[in-house]
Amino acid sequence: MILVLMGPPGAGKGTQAKKLVARYGIPQLSTGDMLRAARKSGSELGQKVAAIMDAGGLVPDDVVIALIEDRLGNPDAAAGAILDGFPRTVAQAEALDAMLARRGKRVDAVLAIDVPDDEVVRRNAGRRSCPVCGATYHVEFKPPRSPGVCDADGTALVQREDDKPDRIRARLEAYHRQTAPVLGYYEPKGIVRSIDGVGDIDAVFDRLVAAIG
Ligand code: AP5
Repeated sequence: MILVLMGPPGAGKGTQAKKLVARYGIPQLSTGDMLRAARKSGSELGQKVAAIMDAGGLVPDDVVIALIEDRLGNPDAAAGAILDGFPRTVAQAEALDAMLARRGKRVDAVLAIDVPDDEVVRRNAGRRSCPVCGATYHVEFKPPRSPGVCDADGTALVQREDDKPDRIRARLEAYHRQTAPVLGYYEPKGIVRSIDGVGDIDAVFDRLVAAIG
């Protein structure tokens, strides 16, 4: 099963992908997480994409396509995958179809999580994450047990550089201009499911599971 999670920055793609992993036993493939890991490692790739990410722009297609192609070849993705943050341009969607076709697979469902722009800003501005285990919190909607500290390992939580107000606006702009048209690419295939992303995290998850069927 190949699922694509789409939605504006902060729609809850990462939050829901982790719950879908637990439900369906297939891995989450997040290009955002892969790129952040490359930056953390100080690799050449990480250095190349750092400024683009911090400004809220999109990394070049060839870079993310290569990351996904490589990751889809891992044995844990043999039974399927949950794509989180990819594809983000029509060129990426076409490349994904081609790489899946070579493996005798296709995208089974595109789950488009709808969240209005003002809610997107609130969610991104309040997001905090653990730099060690990657757990994600929200100061208001999903607070840790002790303020500013990860429940799992006690590490001090951090705010992503691209969650500063001007960067959130840039990411939203990139979403509307470059990523929203990807839905138009998938719609004629009849695989797009629109999900209301407003409401508590478990309620949104129930809607996703119902849409997957
Ligand atoms: P990426 O990491 O993919 O960022 P994004 O799409 O902007 O998505 P986010 O991770 O910000 O949000 P999310 O939807 O996962 O929401 P979350 O679950 O965290 O990409 C980062 C950058 O990498 C891009 O800007 C680009 O530069 C580059 N990049 C990545 N992929 C690329 C690609 N394919 N092509 C080119 N460049 C690429 O939730 C957000 C917050 O809301 C959390 O605090 C959470 O606790 C809270 N929350 C979640 N659900 C709810 C709810 N139902 N109610 C209340 N709060 C909620």
